[in-house]
Amino acid sequence: MSRHLLQAQEEERKRISRELHDETGQGLMVLRLYLGMLAGDSDSPQLKLKVEEAMTMLDRTIGDLRRIIARLSPRTLEELGLLAAIRKEVRELAKNTGMKAQINLPDTLGEVDREIEIAIYRSVQESLHNIAKHSQAKNFSLEVENQHGALCLLVDDDGIGFSGKGNPRRQSFGLLGMRERIAALGGTVRVRSRSGRGTRLRVMLPVAQVAGARKHVSNVRSQPERRRAHEHVELKHGSRPQPAIRTVKPHTQYANVH
Ligand SMILES: Nc1ncnc2c1ncn2[C@@H]1O[C@H](COP(=O)(O)OP(=O)(O)O)[C@@H](O)[C@H]1O
Ligand SMILES: [Mg+2]
Repeated sequence: MSRHLLQAQEEERKRISRELHDETGQGLMVLRLYLGMLAGDSDSPQLKLKVEEAMTMLDRTIGDLRRIIARLSPRTLEELGLLAAIRKEVRELAKNTGMKAQINLPDTLGEVDREIEIAIYRSVQESLHNIAKHSQAKNFSLEVENQHGALCLLVDDDGIGFSGKGNPRRQSFGLLGMRERIAALGGTVRVRSRSGRGTRLRVMLPVAQVAGARKHVSNVRSQPERRRAHEHVELKHGSRPQPAIRTVKPHTQYANVH
């Protein structure tokens, strides 16, 4: 994939996310309003119950749509910057799945090319999405490092892993797309996984101008929340239940980020 194609792909994603928000999202919100009015006006307790069930389902759909939009658009990246956007993704995965997360980021990345930022952010999104969808892990960790002019992203989980054989007819473009994107920028993606032994993903991207940044281990929760400039509050319904609190074994290195 060429750089030009990558840009076109990002533009297209932005357009789709805008349309989903402005059209599908708005339509669902109007529907919610009508259902709310219907529930209020109804004299029949049975009908009221049904309408309320429909509203609960609708709220879940709105929540799903909001997550899809957030994944499509790099708005979070634009508003927060790469490191805070990564922290947010990690925190959300931990919150939505109940997994324990450890995150290890440099204080700063210095000046990084916009395309590189997007590539790292998209790789983070895809690998975390895979952890949520496939891994059945209890713990995961994410690390970004500056290594001799290269940016290194490491994402680990302790889930079921995969052998890489799978069904060849299955269409899975996530890792493939990531490889192409990173290769177009001169980098490499390595995935190490074995059945039952978890998965490790390593992305290396050459970056000439990254300043040597200090590393520190941080608990995601302790990071100050930055408000998003254009938060789309109208799509905020349907929040997920909080994950169950897990006991962290004394020897485990994973920190609870809820
Ligand atoms: N962290 C993971 N844990 C377990 N299996 C994984 C993980 N990441 C990827 N996989 C496996 O690799 C396959 C390919 O992943 P991907 O290319 O992202 O496609 P998709 O997520 O659309 O299935 C997945 O279908 C899954 O079987
Ligand atoms: Mg995937």
